Amino acid sequence: MDTLTVEELDDRMVVTLRRPEARNAINAAMVRELHDVCARLEDDPKLLLLAGADGTFAAGADIAELRERGRDQALRGINSRLFDRIARLPLPTLAAVDGYALGGGAELAYACDLRLASPSAVFGNPEPGLGILAAAGACWRLRDLLGASVAKQVLLAGRRLDADDAVRLGLVAEVVPAGELIKRAHALLDRMAKSGPLALRLTKLVADAPGGHPVTDDLAQAILFESDDKRARMDAFLAGSAATGAWSSGRRGEPDTGGSAATGAWSSGRRGEPDTGGRS
Ligand code: COA
Repeated sequence: MDTLTVEELDDRMVVTLRRPEARNAINAAMVRELHDVCARLEDDPKLLLLAGADGTFAAGADIAELRERGRDQALRGINSRLFDRIARLPLPTLAAVDGYALGGGAELAYACDLRLASPSAVFGNPEPGLGILAAAGACWRLRDLLGASVAKQVLLAGRRLDADDAVRLGLVAEVVPAGELIKRAHALLDRMAKSGPLALRLTKLVADAPGGHPVTDDLAQAILFESDDKRARMDAFLAGSAATGAWSSGRRGEPDTGGSAATGAWSSGRRGEPDTGGRS
């Protein structure tokens, strides 16, 4: 791959955008390579960690290419279809945002299920300043994520959200020092990896289903109620011997306190065991 570094682990794919000469701007080659990643994750579902190299997430779509695109390319939805495909990947996706996530870079981060940020993270959609609109999901994903008022501040008034804004508004789960960002992202994925993969997959499908309908919930639950994984996990819980999922904490029957000072916002991994904050 020319524009990405891809590391494939047993339960996750780690993809780093790497066009440092253009601040990781998303060009046609990167779009193609990200589609290849999606195809692999659709065939063999895994978690996805998406990051940017060299202190930038992505400074947008490649403006030199955008400059040459016309109506027909816009109608092909070059970036919007990719980001939609990423949003619909079977298992959760996490963007680790260090530095700028602007324009299409921000839209790529919005398309992920979760985001973490370093203190230097900046989200923004300056597209109208270039005479275009943020057409790869920002106009509606940002509204869904932050509400219409903040979304319009970003989209229409050029407001940039720094890391403090982003965590306060709930756009990112946590702000983590740049040097710990990837480690923390892995720790968060470790938690998710402890959940039942089919349960995660169906939860994501139901949570993203437009409109929401109790029948969808019931059908998804019906599938999960028949799974061996569910029975094994519940047997383990009832035997008092194992973690029941990614977010369980402390002793059985005790409420989740939301994590310790050492680990920030997230609860610990296995029941009764401290959270190491790192990869297992
Ligand atoms: N598309 C194409 N090239 C880009 C780019 C983009 N979105 N963003 C940055 N680059 C290129 C620059 O043209 C420059 O190339 P050069 O070295 O050949 O001149 C190189 O990346 C470094 O960018 P530079 O602006 O010098 O870096 P900086 O650290 O001073 O500023 C940004 C970083 C992200 C603030 C600035 O590059 C920027 O504003 N980029 C465009 C953001 C944008 O409008 N995105 C929306 C696009 S839809």
